[in-house]
Amino acid sequence: MTIALSPSVIAPETGRDGDFAGSIIAGLREPQKRIESKWLYDAHGSHLFDRITELDEYYPTRTETGILRQRAVELRRFIREGTALVELGSGSSTKTRLLLDALPELETYVPVDISESHLRSAADRLSRDYRNLCVHPLVGDFTDEIVLPPQLQEAPKILFFPGSTIGNFTVQGATGLLTSLRGMRNVTAFVIGVDLVKSAKTLIRAYDDAEGVTADFNLNLLTRINRELGAHFELSAFHHEARWNAGRSRIEMHLVSRCAQRAHILGEQFLFSEAETIHTENSHKFTVERFAGLAADTGWHSDPMWTDPDGLFGVAVLTPGTPSQPAD
Ligand code: TRP
Repeated sequence: MTIALSPSVIAPETGRDGDFAGSIIAGLREPQKRIESKWLYDAHGSHLFDRITELDEYYPTRTETGILRQRAVELRRFIREGTALVELGSGSSTKTRLLLDALPELETYVPVDISESHLRSAADRLSRDYRNLCVHPLVGDFTDEIVLPPQLQEAPKILFFPGSTIGNFTVQGATGLLTSLRGMRNVTAFVIGVDLVKSAKTLIRAYDDAEGVTADFNLNLLTRINRELGAHFELSAFHHEARWNAGRSRIEMHLVSRCAQRAHILGEQFLFSEAETIHTENSHKFTVERFAGLAADTGWHSDPMWTDPDGLFGVAVLTPGTPSQPAD
């Protein structure tokens, strides 16, 4: 059964779409122009992202899937009566099925995602395939407070945050998110996907594929600004670039202006010099030790990380540790 998306769960306070204009303008006013990456995921962007996850060059999805397929049953020890699986940034909920198949005792699934269309279709498909599962989708930005329906607030919970989305946060943002999730009530385990440091060549290929799907995904931001804010960006005047920033251990995604040009958005003019960039995404890469340190600093205990034989990707299983107390 899927609980319908009612206006109350569409969480207007998250400013899901409402602050698009403000966020874009503020970002483009900065000396290093930037666009918040959450805006990548409109309906078309979410579709392109799904295609990225299937690319040969994009190793994270298949590697994480392999790890989960092999090890998900080990999560059984975190299941109590009435346990809910809460997924942050659920997208198409493809990896969720690996957990649901391995752990049929899970009674409730709460996908949280910013893309309403994606969330709705994924929730419907899951409800059809898992007849006994209660699916309770929440539309919104999971970096805002996640307000669970009253009947689930005290339920035991397994948090699921795959895809190395944690790497898309700044170090400070990741610390803040892990700290705030540590304050959630009755979490028995937090299962989180972490992309690991490897050669720059492999990393750059994963974010700049031969077919150009990632380039389209990045450039779709300009299409969205044109459509929703009435701008007239010429897409061919920008190109996609993925850079490895070794000092910060992250892949950076940029839109590079091919020439000096200007753009107008809601009456404001933005100038671009040739080769100037809009910074659109970061994807931080961790070592096993560095991630364990982040977990410990934010009050989580980590079991040894699950990794693939080539050490490309890790899945960490965190449990509430002692250093910080739940905020209640
Ligand atoms: N969480 C994904 C990652 O960092 C998101 C992602 C994959 C992504 N490919 C991208 C974001 C390309 C922007 C552009 O790997």
